[in-house]
Amino acid sequence: MFNKITVVGAGNVGATAAQRVAEKNLARTVVMVDVVDGVPQGKGLDQWQSAPIEGFDSRVVGSNGYETAVGSELFIVTAGIARKPGMSRDDLVKTNAGIVSSVAKEIARVAPKSIIIVVSNPLDVMCYVAMKASGFPKERVIGMAGVLDTARYRAFLAEAMDVSVEDIQAMVLGGHGDTMVPLVSYTTVSGIPVTQLLAQDKLDAIVQRTRGGGAEIVNFLKTGSAYYAPSAAAVQMAEAIVLDKKRILPCAAWLTGEYGLTDVFCGVPCKLGKGGIEKIIEVTLTPAERSALLASAQAVKDTMQVVG
Ligand code: NAI
Ligand code: 2OP
Repeated sequence: MFNKITVVGAGNVGATAAQRVAEKNLARTVVMVDVVDGVPQGKGLDQWQSAPIEGFDSRVVGSNGYETAVGSELFIVTAGIARKPGMSRDDLVKTNAGIVSSVAKEIARVAPKSIIIVVSNPLDVMCYVAMKASGFPKERVIGMAGVLDTARYRAFLAEAMDVSVEDIQAMVLGGHGDTMVPLVSYTTVSGIPVTQLLAQDKLDAIVQRTRGGGAEIVNFLKTGSAYYAPSAAAVQMAEAIVLDKKRILPCAAWLTGEYGLTDVFCGVPCKLGKGGIEKIIEVTLTPAERSALLASAQAVKDTMQVVG
């Protein structure tokens, strides 16, 4: 258990993540910080009052400033605006870059040794903004996208084959956008290659649906984007760090030559433990997967130009 975990942004993803962190007893104190007066305080109090029912001892508190967050070991950054129908994640870039930059500076001020999990979109570019603004080493700035995209892919596969989601092993790499790369060559069902169980056209349709998984939900909700699965994904990463589990999860990491890529955040398999990203795992890709990964990283680099 950590002493303190802070979630920045008490909106849909942030508040749900805070509740999940508390229910898993990952920290003695869970802080929610948001700019809107009363919202983090009210949600924090409400969540804390669920503790006797749910049986957790994490104390949830809300604040509009960072003094309550002093000494946090881990931050989950969800501050920013979310997508509306017709908007791509990249449409959020300028607004969210300003927000994430100011948040990361505050984090560096109150908790210079902490680890940051970035959730705000466009994810890979916001990781870059957070790393630059905080001055943190690359191991301590980690983006959440691959766990979510992989969960969507696994859910769609399980539904198509009428099997348990638990038996689908898979990974989605690349940037968190339409160019993401579901790795069909590493997708198995209890060790059986998925290509032996599902026809190619069905598999292709699932890969496409995964790429549009976020937009599918935005189109239903109309006023915002997904938050149940995103918060679950961020908290799975937090749990791997808090419990030093050494889990291998697809995360956005700053690459310095891995997969032939440099100076870009991109989704790759990472070992997560107490030190943050403890290792980036390089796996052999098919030529098609490799060129898709390079194209996806290039799309991230193109958006990076917007923030300089
Ligand atoms: P939301 O609009 O419900 O919540 C955002 C919150 O951030 C609001 O409460 C707002 O007041 C707060 N905020 C704005 N500026 C702030 C600042 N300077 N400091 C602290 N708080 C501030 O949005 P939602 O649905 O929670 O999404 C949050 C972000 O996460 C969006 O950018 C969204 O696109 C992104 N997202 C990323 C996913 C991923 O896979 N990486 C998945 C889902 C959402
Ligand atoms: C999602 O994938 C909008 O990035 C967000 O749901």
